[in-house]
Amino acid sequence: MHRKLYIETYGCQMNVADSEVVVSILQDDGFSLTGSLEEADLILVNTCSVRDNAEQRVWGRLDVFKQHKKKNPGMLIGVIGCMAERLKEQLLETDKMVELVVGPDAYRDLPRLIGEAYSGHEAVNVLLSREETYADISPVRLDKNGVSAFVSIMRGCNNMCSYCVVPYVRGIERSRDPATILGEVRALFNRGYREVTLLGQNVDSYSYEGKEGNTTFADLLELTAKVNSLLRVRFSTSHPKDMSDEVLKVMSHFDNICKHIHLPAQSGSSRILELMNRKYDREWYMNRIRAIRKILPGCAVSTDMMTGFCTETEEDHRESLSLMRWAEYDFAYMFKYNERPNTKAARKYPDDIPEKVKTRRLNEIIELQNKLSLESKKKDVGKIFEVLVEGFSRKSTAYLSGRTSQNKVVVFPAGKHAPGDYVNVEITDCTSATLIGKTVTSSH
Ligand code: SAH
Ligand code: SF4
Ligand code: F3S
Repeated sequence: MHRKLYIETYGCQMNVADSEVVVSILQDDGFSLTGSLEEADLILVNTCSVRDNAEQRVWGRLDVFKQHKKKNPGMLIGVIGCMAERLKEQLLETDKMVELVVGPDAYRDLPRLIGEAYSGHEAVNVLLSREETYADISPVRLDKNGVSAFVSIMRGCNNMCSYCVVPYVRGIERSRDPATILGEVRALFNRGYREVTLLGQNVDSYSYEGKEGNTTFADLLELTAKVNSLLRVRFSTSHPKDMSDEVLKVMSHFDNICKHIHLPAQSGSSRILELMNRKYDREWYMNRIRAIRKILPGCAVSTDMMTGFCTETEEDHRESLSLMRWAEYDFAYMFKYNERPNTKAARKYPDDIPEKVKTRRLNEIIELQNKLSLESKKKDVGKIFEVLVEGFSRKSTAYLSGRTSQNKVVVFPAGKHAPGDYVNVEITDCTSATLIGKTVTSSH
């Protein structure tokens, strides 16, 4: 029997990588992918719990899936990923149309669970694992461009930032065997991929104890860069408390390791950072940025910032603004603090900043970052960058779109170039989001 799987993915890049593992497991079980809800025998939604609005989006999608199930009662709806892990059986109770609930460490059990669900039994597996890394599974790539792929190098998180659900829904940290990571990277390169992003919640604490001794993140980065000089290597996310000079040095030795570090600060106030249990203070964070500037001149730096965390004063907020100005971030993801059930912050600190104040502060940091992003792009005008082409620009097939090593998007006239090409582009103009350029000569 040839059954059809429709899958939607929400949340971070780890979830994107996980969906590729899930599709691989289900293809081996006889499913083929479909992009059409009408055709689907099985709908899976891979979910995120990091903020309530991420969960609300999923509830909204489940309502849409239900309409399809009414027309096609044989269809199965499953919730997988972080929200499945957080809500467990409750999901079945809240939404009678959901028949399958599978947490992030239980994907190997999907074929059995699907069988159970088809025969009318409850199908829930939300066991977290100490070992599972899906190391031996070849993910089925779901990216559209065939140029850039995510490679999961570790799972879980041990950090227990007080606001964060990730450790609860993803379990303890474990690192994947480097031999399987490198095998996957080589296979991607041979299939034409030209960029990999190594993924973990805290890549700097990657550590694998194998027969030949210990592999650190710096070692892994070097081994990945050596796979081929035509392969770009990125990674995410770095944790300021663990980001080491060794990693920065390895980056400086290899042109193909992209010069961009995502180093989430969360706040500029040492008092708030302490409450967040981030395990660094403002000074430590600034010193990490200084190390980046010294060892990797021209390296782009981006951040995540949160406003309105418990007890945040106007003074704390101004410290976040001043840190952002000082760091001159090239890019930032910005959020309002959202209390998550059962986290340390939810248990211990009252969510005491009024919504209006959170919103106003968020708008202030967004406004500042827009200026910083524009300044960062303006500095690139007149310079030449090597761009890895990813595809056509969103607006027109006469233009290609790609990124610089610093992770800035560049749009330029297509000429004869194609996705996967490296092209030297002179930047002639910019907006706060995009660089605009013209081809100089083809590189490599
Ligand atoms: N492991 C990564 C972040 C993963 S979650 C790191 O430590 O940087 C991505 C981002 O979501 C976080 O950096 C944080 O800014 C935001 N976030 C996490 N929990 C949140 C919450 N309860 N409310 C608002 N934003 C949150
Ligand atoms: Fe969450 Fe902190 Fe772990 Fe990041 S490092 S996933 S913010 S607990
Ligand atoms: Fe969300 Fe889970 Fe990622 S909670 S941010 S999808 S690890």
